Formats: sequence, structure tokens, C-alpha cells
Amino acid sequence: MAEEIEDTVAFDVEGGIAWVRFNRPAKRNSMSPALNRRMMQVLDELEFRDDVGVLVLSGEGAAWSAGMDLKEYFRETEAKGQGAVRKAQAEAYGWWRRLRWYRVPTIAMVNGWCFGGGYGPLFACDLAFAADEAQFALSEINWGILPGGGATKVVVDLLSMRDAMYHALTGELIDGRKAAAWKLVNESHPLEGLKARVAEVAGILLKKNPVALKATKDAIRRVAEMTYDNAEDYLVRAQEAANSFDNEGRKEGIRQFIDEKSYKPGLGAYDKAR
Ligand code: ACO
Repeated sequence: MAEEIEDTVAFDVEGGIAWVRFNRPAKRNSMSPALNRRMMQVLDELEFRDDVGVLVLSGEGAAWSAGMDLKEYFRETEAKGQGAVRKAQAEAYGWWRRLRWYRVPTIAMVNGWCFGGGYGPLFACDLAFAADEAQFALSEINWGILPGGGATKVVVDLLSMRDAMYHALTGELIDGRKAAAWKLVNESHPLEGLKARVAEVAGILLKKNPVALKATKDAIRRVAEMTYDNAEDYLVRAQEAANSFDNEGRKEGIRQFIDEKSYKPGLGAYDKAR
């Protein structure tokens, strides 16, 4: 039966969390042009919904994502010429970029295989939690290309130069634990406990002021490539912009601490429901 574009991505929203899943388990969730197109539609649909405060990206079946679909994304697209290649790249890179600057915090829940092109969405997610059993590799070298689509930049940004070089030159697998030790992901847990830990972290984020979350995640990515002085200046302006956008929430945070003494900002978040 032919694959329908709608079927390539699955999602449901529960308790403020959008659980989005690569959904081509028979193809180990490799990213075809259809999947990339569909993922952008899904991100578009979820981004500004009031009932979505965190987005989690995982995969159906044994894979998170086995990278780009070598048949549909590379071979069949290349056969159509350079215009088709550029379009396929734009569709893939487009949704990764959308995810990097998403309105709500994003978490990669890496349940299994994660290869090559998968490093794009892995990096796009603000946080990443892997199963101990997950397997990661820059396998490009194994079939004769360099890690493109941002993958080289991802490992250089996240890993030490030695680990990045070894990872890219050998194409060897590392498991979730090693990925955590290398800081490719935040943490690694046995697969059976992974979803509970991710739900716990999502729960922490859902309690925070959403305007502050968005300003903070953007600031972390932006200042990484600034000088100290530029970062200082950017942060002054970003803070002022966030204050004017969500003045009431911030005032409420101060009020509950100073006047009501109902919480301590050093120990947890204010009650944003009031
Ligand atoms: N592109 C296209 N098809 C793929 C891909 C892929 N990246 N990964 C898996 N598939 C397909 C297989 O061709 C196979 O299809 P078929 O059932 O029609 O024959 C099906 O998915 C299942 O794959 P198997 O290899 O049989 O699954 P297995 O569980 O034994 O192995 C593994 C899983 C290790 C992930 C293997 O499929 C694999 O090596 N995939 C390629 C990983 C890779 O190197 N990706 C490219 C990274 S580089 C880049 O993204 C630019």
C-alpha cells in the first residue's frame, strides 16, 4: 500500500505536551521528502495552540530516525536534477530551523537509532534525552559522503573537537550513555523509564512563564555566537522586549514573592495560574 503523506508523522496533545513522532517505523523513520513536508505542516499546526506548552519529538518503533532516506531523499531526488535536490534540502532544513526557534521548549526523546541527518532535528530540540539502548552515528562516512545538512556543525558545536573528529571519521556507533557523557544529549535512561523522565522534565517547563521560556531558549542559542559585549547588549534588549510583552506575568512573579511570600524564586516557579 502506498504511503500517505499524513501517515509519516504521528502526534497527540496531552496535558500541555505535544507528543510528535517520526512515523515510518518500517523504514526506521528515515526522512523522506514526504515526511519532511508533513513535519513542517504538523509543527505549523501545533506551534501557536493554547494547549501546547512543550513539544516532544520521538520515533515510532525501534528508531528515532535513521537519517535521510537514501532512496527517496537522495537517489530518487538526485535523478530529478539540481532543482529537486535544492527543494528537498529546503524542506528538510526548513522544519529543523522552525524547530530551533519554536515558540515552546522542545525535547528530543531519542528512543532508538539516530543517524546522520537525524542530528539536525536532534540539535534543533532544546533538550535531548536518550534511551541507554539508543544508538547514534554519523554514518555518512560509511557510504561515502561528508556529514552535511548541518550534522558536522552540530557535532562541532556540541562535542569536543577530538570526539567530533573521531565520531565523523570512523562512523562508529555510540550508545545513549556515551552520547550523554559526550553531551550530545542531556541524559540517558533505560528505555522503559525514558518517557516518564521526559514527562517529568516537560512538567517542570510547563510551570514556567512561557514568555520567559521563549526569551531564554532564544538567548542561549543567540549569545553562543556573540562576543561578551554583544551578548550583554542583546540580553538587555531581549529582557526589555520580554518585559513589555508579558509585563503582568513578571509583576505577578514579584508580587507572590515580595508581598504574598508564597514561593521563593530561588527554589521554584511562581504560580502562573493566578
Ligand atoms: N534510508 C532509506 N531506507 C532506510 C534507511 C535509510 N536511511 N534506513 C532504513 N531503511 C529501510 C531499509 O532499506 C529497509 O527497507 P526494506 O524493508 O524495504 O528493505 C527498512 O528500512 C528496514 O531496514 P533494515 O536495514 O532491514 O533494519 P535493521 O533494523 O536491520 O537496521 C539500521 C537498522 C541499522 C538503522 C539500518 O537500517 C541502517 O543502517 N540504515 C541506514 C542508516 C544510515 O546510515 N542513514 C543515513 C545517515 S547519513 C544521512 O542521513 C545524510
